[in-house]
Amino acid sequence: MADFLRVLESARHVRLQAYAPYSGFQVGAALETPGGMIVTGCNVENATYGLTICAERVALVKAISEGERKFTRIAVVADTENPTPPCGACRQILWEFGGDLEIIIANLKEVKGIYRLAALLPMPFDGRLLGGKT
Ligand code: THU
Repeated sequence: MADFLRVLESARHVRLQAYAPYSGFQVGAALETPGGMIVTGCNVENATYGLTICAERVALVKAISEGERKFTRIAVVADTENPTPPCGACRQILWEFGGDLEIIIANLKEVKGIYRLAALLPMPFDGRLLGGKT
């Protein structure tokens, strides 16, 4: 498993790529796989506002399209004093690939909190309810 700090630094680094001309709120995310791979993402805003994609989702779709399906942790970094947790939509999308995911919430200088996805999304909707995947 890749080092905690490597995941965190990757999120801080990719945050600088954020395309956030409307909010000015830059976010970086880094997902770690069990094999130690790190896949990063930044938020990508759009003039329609509603088509904006969060950093967490960018990282996840990049990872899935690279063939990754399992994740051990995700670091989310924003330049805020208060913790910036994944939004509700991102929690749901991350849940698709496992509730045991560790979520590191940090700013540019410190870790603000470490959570399990299951704790942040206590009553998820998932494939089990469709009678499909378990
Ligand atoms: N944003 C993220 O990328 N991740 C989060 O966890 C919270 C919000 C982005 C979306 C938008 O570009 C900006 O932050 C302000 O909401």
